[in-house]
Parts: sequence; structure tokens; C-alpha cells
Amino acid sequence: MKRLHGHLRLRAAPVDAMRVPLRRRWMIYLSFAVLVATGAVWLAVHWSRASDELPSRLEPISMKIHGAAAMFALFVFGTMFYAHMLRGWRAHHNRISGGLLSVACALLVLSGWGLYYLEADALRAFTDLAHSVIGVALPILLWIHIVRGRRLAARVRSHRQAQ
Ligand code: HEM
Ligand code: HEM
Repeated sequence: MKRLHGHLRLRAAPVDAMRVPLRRRWMIYLSFAVLVATGAVWLAVHWSRASDELPSRLEPISMKIHGAAAMFALFVFGTMFYAHMLRGWRAHHNRISGGLLSVACALLVLSGWGLYYLEADALRAFTDLAHSVIGVALPILLWIHIVRGRRLAARVRSHRQAQ
């Protein structure tokens, strides 16, 4: 308990700087929601048609919107990198869920690149699977990260008030 208090006191100041400004938070939610929704539409349509059937028009349309949302998401990550991710990492705030979320985002960007440029072979099939699985898990990772982050911030603030 003593150690926990020491830990919280040490890190009491920077946790306020970790709050994500409201407008930027909505940019994250919007880009993630469009990415997940268009990815889910593509998966549902693609996997429900027979392999010899022509692709539905929904497939290219959902990917066009997905690609646009992916570029917007890259911009949003850029705004988060120094102010939120690096600062939180250095201050040891919410490292596990934040690190996992950051790795998931980086893998999505990397596999997204692969989906654009890899030929249809085993590596592309693996990239496709990895991208879809991480993509579906993304909202859960974000949710866990926010819940844990807010809990940590509340603990730090109540500790500060008690002093
Ligand atoms: C090394 C990586 C990361 C670390 C150490 C980290 C750390 C934190 C901390 C400490 C909080 C709690 C702030 C508070 O409520 O006062 C938080 C909240 C949050 N984080 Fe992260 N984070 C990381 C990566 C990310 C990434 C990649 C995203 C999304 C692109 C993200 C989005 C958010 C959001 C939306 C919140 C809730 C903000 C709020 O309630 O004000 N984080 N993070
Ligand atoms: C930062 C996040 C993301 C980036 C940068 C990204 C990028 C990309 C790119 C570049 C493509 C190829 C587009 C094309 O072939 O026209 C793609 C396809 C796809 N993405 Fe994402 N994406 C992200 C997040 C997600 C999420 C959250 C999901 C959720 C399910 C998802 C599911 C898919 C699916 C199902 C495909 C089609 C796979 C295929 O063509 O074989 N993506 N993504």
C-alpha cells in the first residue's frame, strides 16, 4: 500500500496531461467506428458469397470509405504520438493497455500496407487474416484502455485530494 501511494504521488502531476482533448477524442471514435463498420461490411459480404460469384458492389464501396478513414486515422495517430503515447509511456501511466493498443494500431497500418501491395499468395492470406482479427479486436482494446486509464486517473486524483 505504501509503495502504491509512493507510486501515485510520484506520478500525480503528469496524469492530467494525459487527458485526450474532447475534439481529438471524437476524431478517434469517428475514425475507429468508420474503419470497423466498413471492415465488418466487407467481411460479411465477402464471406457470404460463393467463391465463383461476382463481387458485390458493396465490397469496393466499403473499401473506398475504409481507405479514406485509414488515412484520417493515420493523421489522428500522429496527433497522439508525442502528447499522449510517448508521454504516457515515459510516465509509466497505463502502459500495458496503451502499449497493446499502440501495437495493434501499428500492425493494422503495416498489414493495411500489405493488403495494398502484396500479391495473392500465402503471405497475403496471412496478412488478410491478421488485419481482420486485429481490426475486430480494436474497439475492445480501446474500451479496456479507456476504462483502465480513467480508473488510474481517478485513483491519482483522489490520492492527491486526500493529502
Ligand atoms: C504507449 C501508449 C499509451 C499510453 C501510455 C496511454 C496512456 C493513457 C492514460 C494514462 C490515460 C488516462 C488519462 C485520463 O483519463 O486522465 C489514457 C486515456 C486514453 N487514451 Fe491512451 N495511452 C496510450 C495509447 C493510446 C492510443 C494509441 C490511443 C488511441 C489512438 C489512446 C487513446 C486514449 C483515449 C481515447 C483515452 C481516454 C481519454 C480521456 O478519458 O480523457 N491511447 N491513455
Ligand atoms: C489504422 C487502422 C487501419 C488501417 C490503416 C487499415 C488499412 C487498410 C487498407 C489499406 C486496406 C486495403 C484496402 C483495399 O484493398 O482497397 C484494408 C482492408 C481491410 N481492412 Fe483495414 N485498416 C485499418 C483498420 C481496420 C479495422 C478496425 C478493421 C475491422 C474489421 C479492418 C478490416 C479490414 C478488412 C476486412 C479489409 C479487407 C481485406 C482484404 O481486402 O482482403 N481494418 N485496411
